[in-house]
Amino acid sequence: MQKIKKRPRRCQLAVPGSSVKMLKKASSLAVDHVFLDLEDAVAPNAKVDARKMVVDALNQLDWTGKVRCVRINDCTTEWCYGDVIEVIEGAKNNIDTLMLTKVRSVADVYFVDTLLHQLEKKLQLPPNGIGLEILIEDVAGLMNVDAIAGASERLECLIFGMGDYSASHGIDARYIGGENPYPGDIWHYARFKMTIAAQAHGLDAVDGPFPDFSNISGYKREAEYASILGMVGKWAIHPSQIEIAQKTFSPDPVEILKAQKLIEVYDIALAKGDGAVKIDGAMIDAASIRMVQQVIDKAKLYGMTND
Ligand code: COA
Ligand code: MG
Repeated sequence: MQKIKKRPRRCQLAVPGSSVKMLKKASSLAVDHVFLDLEDAVAPNAKVDARKMVVDALNQLDWTGKVRCVRINDCTTEWCYGDVIEVIEGAKNNIDTLMLTKVRSVADVYFVDTLLHQLEKKLQLPPNGIGLEILIEDVAGLMNVDAIAGASERLECLIFGMGDYSASHGIDARYIGGENPYPGDIWHYARFKMTIAAQAHGLDAVDGPFPDFSNISGYKREAEYASILGMVGKWAIHPSQIEIAQKTFSPDPVEILKAQKLIEVYDIALAKGDGAVKIDGAMIDAASIRMVQQVIDKAKLYGMTND
């Protein structure tokens, strides 16, 4: 498996690229990741002008401490190639990743990947320096998710977008974030399948939007479901959702201390030649240590440890 650059993505904030006010506000918020949107939050007649607004925001505002991502229109639209060229030529080093929408097959990834290679050469930017984040929000994309996840060295993250996904699947839009009569979680299969594909290729898996931002408990529940399934973060469409996601996807400080202690104790056991030991009444072996190492890795990524 290739070594993928890990960036914090506990919360990815959606920011309409055509709103100067929201772009400015986004730069002031405490959030891991922002994606400046040229796609569905921007009206067709504002899309071309929004590119310059997004470039100006990337170049002029202070985004310190945040992953800077731009969400572009999908490969079937007349805007896709122009989005890539104008954003990269305008922002150069002031962007970390592009987010590709409605990805259906590896061909969509190859198209943007090739365009980025050409732009990186022309602009003398580091090769493969611009990462890719992929929205799985179409039934074809979900069927092809394993191949998509391995399609480029630039890939960092897969995101499950339940809004567009429900439209392509034929699921009632009322069920996107709310209760429904189905006995079980209607998103379980899609989230689980996408997360397995992401992890198999060393990528992050992220959960998409929860549009009813007045329903705080519903948002929290969905973030917890995603976290339990191994996803590393969730979108926010409104500032009120940010703190919940940042917290839900952070390791618990008590668990970090326990993990550190367990690794210390296990190292002593290994030095004595013991591979499996009893600690606090439970069996600990090499697999247990691999599990707690994930807690430590996350804590380091989020600056929650002293080293
Ligand atoms: N990013 C940055 N700032 C945001 C924001 C966002 N996504 N959503 C709201 N804000 C700001 C508002 O501008 C307002 O700022 P102020 O206090 O300086 O006036 C403040 O947060 C409170 O916002 P509020 O008045 O409650 O909401 P609103 O009516 O201004 O906006 C939405 C509501 C839904 C239109 C807005 O949240 C939005 O556009 N969200 C993103 C939509 C999107 O990107 N969709 C595509 C991905 S699913
Ligand atoms: Mg979408």
